[in-house]
Amino acid sequence: MTSVAIANIGELVSWADERPVRHGAGLVVADGVVAWVGDTADLPAADESIDAGGRAVIPGFVDSHTHLVFAGDRAEEFTARMAGERYAAGGIRTTVAATRAAGEEELTRLATARMAELHSQGTTTVEIKSGYGLDTDTEELLLRVASGLTPETTYLGAHVVPDGWTADAYVELVTGAMLERCAPHARWIDVFCEVGAFDADAARTVLKAGIAAGLLPRIHANQLGHGPGVQLACELGAAAADHCTYLSDADVAALADSGVVAGLLPGVEFSTRHPYPDARRLLAAGVRIAIATDCNPGTSYTSSMPFCIALAVRELGMTPLEALHAATLGGAASLRRSDVGHLRPGARADLVILDAPSHVHLAYRPGVPLVHRVLTAHQSHKL
Ligand code: NIG
Ligand code: FE
Repeated sequence: MTSVAIANIGELVSWADERPVRHGAGLVVADGVVAWVGDTADLPAADESIDAGGRAVIPGFVDSHTHLVFAGDRAEEFTARMAGERYAAGGIRTTVAATRAAGEEELTRLATARMAELHSQGTTTVEIKSGYGLDTDTEELLLRVASGLTPETTYLGAHVVPDGWTADAYVELVTGAMLERCAPHARWIDVFCEVGAFDADAARTVLKAGIAAGLLPRIHANQLGHGPGVQLACELGAAAADHCTYLSDADVAALADSGVVAGLLPGVEFSTRHPYPDARRLLAAGVRIAIATDCNPGTSYTSSMPFCIALAVRELGMTPLEALHAATLGGAASLRRSDVGHLRPGARADLVILDAPSHVHLAYRPGVPLVHRVLTAHQSHKL
């Protein structure tokens, strides 16, 4: 048994029921799992020790929505948007062309580098979608690359209808031969339900086929307008409806009643100049919220959960603690994981020591690299 004791934690955010935030804390990790949490004065002895020196310790971020496997970038699109042009879903096809042209080795190199970028900013659990292949071979390849990096892989063959296909024919492929090849490499099924992508009937067909193949549903919903995606997520009992930028009162009520997690992706509104979603309205209704990066070259080319937390506080109306909750436990709920997103005894020992005395600094000092050290269950197990 290998154990590590962390002493002198200025502020520990563990999300324990009794004391979710504790000052002057200590924590012990044994064999990659949180074994003890308490006052630093009572810290039990361990094989190794770390002095946090008054820094804050938080759970590693759970980024529940990324598109990390792609090639190329779309910087010109971003520049044009900043000059007033509108975002359109069709830009996805530009990245599809670049991704198809890159081989397995290059895609693996790019995605691995992006994972390292996420990790260095405190993210320890990541969901990764396919969706820039849009043919059977490339979608399967993207999922194989993603599977090498995370167990939270999502089949998003239904990202947009590729050139040369009718919507009906493409949905048949996505729910037939492509699904058969991709399902073994995926845990989740997703669809972009939006004008310019897939309508409610097509999205329902895609998600139901995925469910029948043993995948769990999640959805891109209500990003560009008041679409049917959120209601579909609630109808099918999806784990998450992500984006939720344009919501009716009925959408908010359906999310609250169904327990579907609303994924808010403020990097998208930053990069598309769409209005930010209203987190206060969702919190007031009792909707569970996850904050994620949506890291992708079109609408949100950031790998930084701290940046998204800062946006959530400044633009979505969340308190720093609510934003941190959404970026850790909220992400875990979105991925239906009970072992990550918190530091209660029994949790995976995925944690971040911040170069700051409190989690508030994540939003208060935007753009500043505040990660002092990231410990993961995997690493601490080896210590
Ligand atoms: O989550 N909404 C759909 N997919 C991405 C955008 C993809 C792209 O533009 O390349 C998103 O925002
Ligand atoms: Fe997305």
